[in-house]
Amino acid sequence: LRPVFRRLNCPGPVAADLSREEQPPGSVETGSEDKIPKKRFSEVQKERREQAQRTVLIHCPNKINERKFLKYLSQHGPINNHFFYEGFGLYAVVEFCRKDSVYSLQGGIHTPSLGTEAAIPFKSRFFNLKLKNPSSQISEQPCVETTNQLPPSSKKLFEILYYAESIDDQLNSLLRKFQLTEENTKLRYLTCSFIEDIAAAYFPDCTVRPFGSSVNTFGKLGCDLDMFLDLDEFGKVSTNKNVGNFLMEYQVKNVPSERIATQKILSVIGECLDHLGPGCVGIQKILNARCPLVRFSHQPSGFQCDLTTNNRIALKSSELLYIYGALDSRVRALVFSVRCWARAHSLTSSIPGAWITNFSLTMMVIFFLQRRSPPILPTLDSLKTLADAEDKCIIEGNNCTFTHDLNKIKPSGNTETLELLLKEFFEYYGNFAFSKNSINIRQGKEQNKPDSSPLHIQNPFETSLNISKNVSQSQIQKFVDLARESAWILEQDNKNGPSPRIRPWGLAAVLLPSVVNSKSLTTKKRKKPGSETVKNLLESIKSNSTENPLSTNEK
Ligand code: GTP
Ligand code: MG
Repeated sequence: LRPVFRRLNCPGPVAADLSREEQPPGSVETGSEDKIPKKRFSEVQKERREQAQRTVLIHCPNKINERKFLKYLSQHGPINNHFFYEGFGLYAVVEFCRKDSVYSLQGGIHTPSLGTEAAIPFKSRFFNLKLKNPSSQISEQPCVETTNQLPPSSKKLFEILYYAESIDDQLNSLLRKFQLTEENTKLRYLTCSFIEDIAAAYFPDCTVRPFGSSVNTFGKLGCDLDMFLDLDEFGKVSTNKNVGNFLMEYQVKNVPSERIATQKILSVIGECLDHLGPGCVGIQKILNARCPLVRFSHQPSGFQCDLTTNNRIALKSSELLYIYGALDSRVRALVFSVRCWARAHSLTSSIPGAWITNFSLTMMVIFFLQRRSPPILPTLDSLKTLADAEDKCIIEGNNCTFTHDLNKIKPSGNTETLELLLKEFFEYYGNFAFSKNSINIRQGKEQNKPDSSPLHIQNPFETSLNISKNVSQSQIQKFVDLARESAWILEQDNKNGPSPRIRPWGLAAVLLPSVVNSKSLTTKKRKKPGSETVKNLLESIKSNSTENPLSTNEK
């Protein structure tokens, strides 16, 4: 087995910015070495946002001469970096060194004159590049190299897992292939920046921040883009001239509740995206949800976007998960594999319903890692005790204080391998007293459930709430059955030792569809998979059919 990769000695990306596979020149330096302090979440967000504001997106002809293209754009100032990707055509993301280069570029661009249609002349940073004399130029253009924005196919994943050296290697490889790349992260911040430009038409000081898996270190290529429209003046330096006995306030419209204010704001922004937003399609205003949102597709980036406002606690949850993800390299490797496992067995779904969510699964992994001996992750309460005055944070009466400084948290002395942790995760939840106990990452110990919901995971910041209230008894039963079966499969692998690998093994084996049908699962009968069944499964993966059980596309 490979050595266990500890906190400060982990393979590939780690620490403050964990989204890259390789660091392209000129990208934000966030540090992954021993001696470099790990960046705070807020610092990463600030740098990335500023980087996005200097960046443009260009829809290019399918064949383009990269050198000439860059020379043409450099007229407006030096370029920090760029990359191409394919979506509905070829796109270039170009980051200038200075923001005024973007203004210079915009100054020389005109809105198109169309035939029968009319253009809405909204001047964004998303452009269309045409060749002046296409027929003479196209044949001589070399193809540009494009970056990949999609997760690996099931076939590719199977190959990676099949040829890995050990189960630890399988989990680390899966993480490396599925995690957000540097380019994909840039595209996410750029998309938020575009939406911010549109929202700024109404709210000039607003910020649109990504949250959820795009930034919490647990994002998989293909995951949705959660955005938070921040209109709050909180934290901004007041420039009020406090001379005299006067206090000036804005005249505003009043509505009966915060919720109604949120709905009204999102409704207007939704209309704006629909009518003015280049590339924003399929706008749905879901304003009666518990957390009102506007959902839409950003066609050029291919992201499914959920825009919310007045949702500051979710931003805090993202920061907390970021810290947990950065503390120990085993956390992300385990979470990615558990998420893939749940998806492969249809325990999670892109359709809302009685299923468990990726957010809940992440909480379950964190809780499990807090329960190891010695613990791999600290409890939220202990992160709170490490907080100093500037970390103090109360949102809507909820205490959301915890340290933001990763360097203050002592690394764990636990050296368990990923192989062991994966098996133990399945064993732990295969035997967890879900009917009696609640999962609670604040205290890191089981608590009596306060109500009868089949799965109770305490919301870490709004502690009277259950983040998995939607999960049905049958879904939790399915989870338990599959966890037991997976523990059993890994145990068999272990007992049989390093046999010639004629069948899917380790992680690949637990991602395959259950070999016992759902009826026999509930009666707890377990059969060793027959060689014929396994052969068929192997063939089905190799043929990469659309029904492929390893299909991991999220949305
Ligand atoms: P993906 O499935 O990869 O999109 O994971 P995600 O973490 O981004 O989940 P999702 O898009 O469903 O939600 C975005 C964020 O909203 C999460 O990261 C949480 O911070 C928050 N969130 C989601 N569901 C809940 C919930 O039930 N309760 C609370 N308090 N927050 C939630
Ligand atoms: Mg999400």
